[in-house]
Amino acid sequence: MKYDFDRMLNRKQTNSYKWDQSERLFGADDVLPLWVADMDFESPPAVKEALVQRALHGTYGYSIQPEAYNAAIVSWFARRHDWQLKPEWLSDAPGVVTTLSLAVELFSSPGDRVLLQSPVYAPFFDVIRMNGREVADSPLVERDGRYIMNYDQLEQEMQRGAKLMLLCSPHNPGGRVWERDELERLGELCIRYGVTVISDEIHCDLVMSGHRHIPFASLSEELAQRTMTALAATKTFNLAGLHTSFAVTANSEMKKAFDRRLRTLALNMTPYFNANAVIAAYNEGEAWLDELLAYLEANRDYAIDYLSEHLPQVKTHRPDGTYLLWVDCRGLTTDVRQIKELMFRQAKVAFNEGSQYGSAGEGFVRINYACPRSFLHKALERFCRAAQTVESK
Ligand SMILES: Cc1ncc(COP(=O)(O)O)c(C=O)c1O
Repeated sequence: MKYDFDRMLNRKQTNSYKWDQSERLFGADDVLPLWVADMDFESPPAVKEALVQRALHGTYGYSIQPEAYNAAIVSWFARRHDWQLKPEWLSDAPGVVTTLSLAVELFSSPGDRVLLQSPVYAPFFDVIRMNGREVADSPLVERDGRYIMNYDQLEQEMQRGAKLMLLCSPHNPGGRVWERDELERLGELCIRYGVTVISDEIHCDLVMSGHRHIPFASLSEELAQRTMTALAATKTFNLAGLHTSFAVTANSEMKKAFDRRLRTLALNMTPYFNANAVIAAYNEGEAWLDELLAYLEANRDYAIDYLSEHLPQVKTHRPDGTYLLWVDCRGLTTDVRQIKELMFRQAKVAFNEGSQYGSAGEGFVRINYACPRSFLHKALERFCRAAQTVESK
């Protein structure tokens, strides 16, 4: 191993969303944070170096996107995903959630029903509801400890008039990397009922061995014409605080509308640091990513084995991708308050409590295992020990 993923970083007092809010959110500073989805690893050395060089310049004026930026994105998706993007399909946006929200605003009307598949990343609900639309939920179905899509229910929602869908691919929190035939079946329904798809593929590079991410828009030209794909280098390379992302839209009308809205809101300017970081990540971060993936996979297996040995009352979904472990705690309790009490007060660990992903997530927790294994071990040990006392009460 060339990169040291075992090294524990001190992220306290760095204005970290994850590390500097334990007291405020969970009642004590020593609650171990394994929740919000960033990683407790340094970004690839080339990214750090690019940012240092950029900072050293000392003037932080208005910036433009160099041509190398789009070129780095195009090359990455060709190399890693066998997906040939055209530079003119790319639009920059501050964040993937920004793209989702603008897309809901642009491609549906107030009062419309917008499809999602719960349990799902909480902002999916927010961007639908806060734009004055209604959530059309097609809950995923659990089969053999994995989520699968409910096509009958999706079709019913489409028949009832849902014309826009927010797809999470790979899926957060369930960790599914949708297979080609699953996506094709969804795509057939979208074509049959004229549904536009906003595909959030921010986790696309975080795929474990034996699985392959299929970009939804790459399935066919017909689907590319009705899809906007929201992407970023931020999950892959731990750059979330830079707040940079891009959308891929082959349909020129959709893209024009999106770009115009970005300009209307003055969201189109280029932040000073981002392009250099993204270029370095995509052009020089590949070896780092391959090692990271091996480390994450070992963490995933470690956590699953640890929980099954020490807390057989809970059941885990084995994620195909992401660095998020979805844990069914209903064998312990289904009471959301009790789960929070168990995590934050008794075990002093902060996983995400599952009901924030929709009611289908009640009784679950989501563990972010993108951290050094020793830290993951400590958190699991604390959780299992506390949960065992709950049991014996
Ligand atoms: C599925 C999904 N989409 C979007 C985001 C956040 O993207 P951004 O920070 O670019 O808005 C996350 C972060 O956890 C995520 O899991």
